Amino acid sequence: MRLNQAQVIEKVFKAYDCRDALELGFFHGVSTVYMASILKSMGDRRTLTTIDLLSAKERSPNLDELAAKFGVSDHVEAFYEPRSYLWRLKAFIEEGRKFDFCYLDGGHTWADSGFAFFLIDKLLKKDGVILFDDMKWTPEHQPAAQHWPEDERTTAAVERVWTLLVMQHPNYDRVWTHGNWALAQKRDNTPLVGGAKRIWRKLIGANKYINFRPDR
Ligand SMILES: C[S@@+](CC[C@H](N)C(=O)[O-])C[C@H]1O[C@@H](n2cnc3c(N)ncnc32)[C@H](O)[C@@H]1O
Repeated sequence: MRLNQAQVIEKVFKAYDCRDALELGFFHGVSTVYMASILKSMGDRRTLTTIDLLSAKERSPNLDELAAKFGVSDHVEAFYEPRSYLWRLKAFIEEGRKFDFCYLDGGHTWADSGFAFFLIDKLLKKDGVILFDDMKWTPEHQPAAQHWPEDERTTAAVERVWTLLVMQHPNYDRVWTHGNWALAQKRDNTPLVGGAKRIWRKLIGANKYINFRPDR
């Protein structure tokens, strides 16, 4: 994540008074520290829950080091999974946890992203926002993908999840994309009027983003 992207997230967090944010995939923890710093600056008790693999502990720098360095450890709840965040999401559903926002930046395969979306939908509060990263990413240059079928290597799976699952899902009708990012807001089943409409327009910008659902 870069600074200009964190600035977009800051607008979203502030527009929706985000208290409980979720991140799938933190790698070294750069995006985690950006988002936790924004939550910290917003006051009260706000937390970013973030999930990656056990191997993330071995990275240098790692999340713990970065969070401590930037003074946001108290705003980060980190989970290190043996195999996948998908199992931690199962536990969250069992525990009845809910989030205002989810940044999905983990495994960019069809299976990982598609099933993660299904689970995140259950974990998002009404009005909650989901942000997909790496919409254009394909695994074709990854060593692990060299023996995969051609279409799996060359298809941008996150974009397919977006188009085939999110855009066709009845819970999501406020959406925008920009470059590698796509953002959707869960329906609250109330008409999009007044303040909410103004906030959404502000996030979307004048001409910069495409509204795919002008009819709804
Ligand atoms: C693109 S990096 C995240 C970058 C980070 N969000 C940032 O902007 O600084 C993707 C991360 O997702 C993790 N990941 C991929 N698939 C995963 C899975 N199924 N469960 C947990 N973590 C996963 C990888 O270990 C990697 O650290």
